[in-house]
Amino acid sequence: MAAQCLIREVNRHVGESVRIGCWLNNVRSSGKIVFLQLRDGSGYIQGVVVKSEVAEEVWNAAKSLTQESSMYVTGTIREEPRSPSGYEMTVTGIEIIQIAQDYPITPKEHGVDFLMDHRHLWIRSPRQRAILVIRSEIIRAVQQFFDERGFKLVDPPILTPSSCEGTTNLFHTKYFEEDAFLTQSGQLYMEAAAMALGRVYSFGPTFRAEKSKTRRHLIEFWMIEPEMAFVDLEENLRIQEEFVSHVVQSVVANCRKELETLERDISKLENIKAPFPRITYDEAIKFLQDNGHDIPWGEDFGAPHETAIAESYDKPVFITHYPTSIKAFYMKPDPNRPEVVLCADMIAPEGYGEIIGGSQRIDDPDLMEERFQEHNLSKEAYQWYMDLRKYGTVPHSGFGLGLERTVAWICGLDHVRETIAFPRLLYRLYP
Ligand code: 4AD
Ligand code: MG
Repeated sequence: MAAQCLIREVNRHVGESVRIGCWLNNVRSSGKIVFLQLRDGSGYIQGVVVKSEVAEEVWNAAKSLTQESSMYVTGTIREEPRSPSGYEMTVTGIEIIQIAQDYPITPKEHGVDFLMDHRHLWIRSPRQRAILVIRSEIIRAVQQFFDERGFKLVDPPILTPSSCEGTTNLFHTKYFEEDAFLTQSGQLYMEAAAMALGRVYSFGPTFRAEKSKTRRHLIEFWMIEPEMAFVDLEENLRIQEEFVSHVVQSVVANCRKELETLERDISKLENIKAPFPRITYDEAIKFLQDNGHDIPWGEDFGAPHETAIAESYDKPVFITHYPTSIKAFYMKPDPNRPEVVLCADMIAPEGYGEIIGGSQRIDDPDLMEERFQEHNLSKEAYQWYMDLRKYGTVPHSGFGLGLERTVAWICGLDHVRETIAFPRLLYRLYP
């Protein structure tokens, strides 16, 4: 019996007979030959069935296959320079598991709603597979970056008693008799972890009940949140640019085929190397005003503003020192200019918008108390967070990278709905 193998391993079996568990992606036939486009998740290979060289039942099986039928195919692996994978299989046997009837996603064009309703099947397409493979590589590269630098992975809770990023977009739920919220960000817990372990990062799902239907917003998205004791804004930015460069270059090195499937301009990604340009919020406002945008100092940027700023650069750009009034309660004011905070957003090129939000955190207990009052945050709920300023407070900084926006940018996608296997969008909870 032929050895079973994955399509990605066929290069090790040239000239041998192997058996592959697979689905039919597509089929072409020309009279006496059937060309089977086979996929097994690990890759693609063409199986060639020649009528005059196989038993009649094998030929009949090949002729009966429909899109997404499942089977084991046995055959000999050959090198084939003209095929995209470099290999082909001369089929000698087909064991059908199931003939799939009326697979809904045909090679013709389908509308977005139809595809989203069939997301559980849509992810089988070569394009969606390429995106999910790149997402997986991004996650691997993220963990490699932090693990190699001695950061410890810490998992903050999903169910929380209070908010991190403001109260307007919290998902409410009951926790037995108490009220609870799905986490918007693990940051506050990561600050506690940084005081215990020094340099930490988290990777987990976060939730925002945002009534925004844009190509950048998900209701449920995954965030990478490093937090570092004894690190100021300057070092925070240096780590971020090294980090993002590492992630992008890992994808370029390890996912070239997938980037080609997506027709991504790889030269644009190859260019993403630290250092990244930096401008202050003040400079960004001046640039926007000089270029016909009607935005006063003190207002937050919207997507069109971010895109206009990013267009001047072919790398991600940091915008630093935003007004204190439009940023989160925990950001440390600039000691020389308390109306701005020691923060930075990283804006991706090509119109993909903010991929990182980060800052140095307030370490002074008195100022933190003041902020709680200004933001109407209950002292009891945040008592534990205050303790971090009370018992050995230190300068510290951190940031959050949105995974899906990063995937959208690296893959060159129009919309974040394709960046995660089962996106949660405004008014979409199915499948
Ligand atoms: O800027 P945000 O809100 O920052 C925080 O949550 C901080 N507590 C992070 C930290 O310092 N530890 O979110 C961080 C990133 C954004 O830059 C964006 O990439 C992503 O999370 N993000 C979203 N991605 C998809 N859909 C949404 N609705 C998102 N909201 C934020
Ligand atoms: Mg932000």
